[in-house]
Amino acid sequence: MAAKGDQSTGSDFPELDPQPDRAVGLEGDGHEVDHRSRVGRVDNLESALRAINEELDLLSQVRAGTFRDLQREVIRYRAVLRGALHALAEAVDAKDTYTHGHSRRVSAYAGHLGRVIGLSSDELDTLTFGALLHDVGKIGMPESILRKPARLTSDEYEIVKRHPVLGAEILRSIPDLGSVETTVRHHHERLDGAGYPDRLAGENISICARVVAVVDTFDAITTTRSYRRARSPKQALEIMGDASGAQLDGELVEHFARLWYAGDLEHIIGDLWEPAAAGCEDEGEEDEVSAAGGAVGCDHGVIT
Ligand SMILES: [Fe+2]
Repeated sequence: MAAKGDQSTGSDFPELDPQPDRAVGLEGDGHEVDHRSRVGRVDNLESALRAINEELDLLSQVRAGTFRDLQREVIRYRAVLRGALHALAEAVDAKDTYTHGHSRRVSAYAGHLGRVIGLSSDELDTLTFGALLHDVGKIGMPESILRKPARLTSDEYEIVKRHPVLGAEILRSIPDLGSVETTVRHHHERLDGAGYPDRLAGENISICARVVAVVDTFDAITTTRSYRRARSPKQALEIMGDASGAQLDGELVEHFARLWYAGDLEHIIGDLWEPAAAGCEDEGEEDEVSAAGGAVGCDHGVIT
C-alpha cells in the first residue's frame, strides 16, 4: 500500500488496495498467500465455533431443562401410578376382612425373595407390582363367594378361578404394565402343568409368577381366613416343601424358607400369626395343597 503523497501515483491520497480483502505476501516457498483473508477465515471460524459452542451450550441447557422436566414428569407419573395401584390392591383386600393386608404382604415377601435370587431392578418392579396386584381380578367377584365361611361349590370355585384372567384384563388398560399383567395371569399356574388358566408348566411360567405363587401360598396358610384359621410359618413351610416340584418351584421354596429362618421376614408377618389364635395346628388335620394354589387347612380350601 502506498503512503500518502506517494509520488509514483501522482496523487495526494494513499493508493487504495484494489483488493482490500487481500493482504498478499510471500511464503517461504515463494507462493503468494493471502494472510488477511486467512486471518479473516480464522476469525470467522473462531467466531463460528464460538457461536456454535454458545448454541450448543444453550441447547444443552434447554435439553437439560427439558430432560429434567421429563424426569420430573416420569417421577410424578410413576408416583401417581404407584399410588393408584396400591389403592387398587387395598380395594381388593377390603372386599374380604380376612385378607386385609394380604396383597401388601405378598408384595413385600416377593421383594425379599426376588432380591435373594438376584432379579434385576426391572424384574423386581414387575415382581413387586405383580405380587401387589395378583388378586386384582377378585374386585368384580361376589363377596358372598370370597367371604364364604365354608367350602366352595364347584360352580363357585369355577367363578373364583377366573380371577387371574380378569386381573390381567384389568391391567391391560394401564400402559407399561405388560409383564405385570403376565405375572398376575399366571400366579396360579403349577410347576406340573395342572394349574390355571393356561396350564403352563415348569419354566414356561415366568420367574415372577413362580415367586408370587410361593409367597402367596405362604401368606394364605399363615393368615386366618373365613374358612379356616392360620397355621404357623413353620407348618406353612413344611406344607410348601411337600408341594415343591408339583405345585411350587422347590428352589424358590428353599430360598424362602432360608429367609424365614434367618428372621428376614418376621417384620412382614408382624403379629398376624399368634400361636394362641391359630387353632388348626392343634386339630391334627392333614394338610395338602389345593388345586386353587393354596393349602387346604382345617376343613376348607384356601383360595390364595
Ligand atoms: Fe389368586
